[in-house]
Amino acid sequence: MIAPRRRLLVATGSAHKLIELQRLFGDLTIDLVTLRDLGITDEAPEDGTTFEENALQKARWYAEASSEWTLADDSGLEVVALNGAPGVYTRRYAGPNATDVQNYEKLLSETSGVTDRSARFVCTMALIDPVNGSERTFRGECPGALTAAPRGEFGFGYDPIFEVDGRTMAERAPAEKDALSHRGRAAALVAAALRSELEQTR
Ligand code: IMP
Repeated sequence: MIAPRRRLLVATGSAHKLIELQRLFGDLTIDLVTLRDLGITDEAPEDGTTFEENALQKARWYAEASSEWTLADDSGLEVVALNGAPGVYTRRYAGPNATDVQNYEKLLSETSGVTDRSARFVCTMALIDPVNGSERTFRGECPGALTAAPRGEFGFGYDPIFEVDGRTMAERAPAEKDALSHRGRAAALVAAALRSELEQTR
């Protein structure tokens, strides 16, 4: 008898992140389901002090709500000259309902005249199996630097002001971003863990 395909809830409310995650997990023999597919509209709390805490908090909450294998992520930008800020406040940097442009304009203004522009993007993914209760986290980092002004049309969030090797993430095609990005790196670790789990349960 053929075993049923496993399902994984990709628990994010961000349409941009969802598109990236669907692309990054595209070759896994697993059915990805979204919060919208399951009719989950409530938002998980997110008040941890680290990316790991936030990713776990979101994954636990959505695993409980769905009883599905659940993956949640938390990500943000750490700027060396700002002692790691905005960190877990990256999404709310210019206020609770700030747009991407308002957020990165604020960061450019806070770092105007700063010569050390080193920064890194961090992504932590938390994977929870609600059946056996296992919880795992995976971390991807992408070192780079802040630009002085936005450049490029691709991507989302802070992509227009974050550069690696002289080109911003928004100046790179999606596949090129995936190969370099914090989310691409964390997703590669998750994909390897999922592949080995799928092998064992086949
Ligand atoms: P959260 O992980 O949904 O809390 O989002 C954290 C913040 O980081 C948001 O402002 C995102 O726009 C930003 N962010 C996360 N990943 C990326 C990325 O790949 N490129 C640009 N900005 C990102």
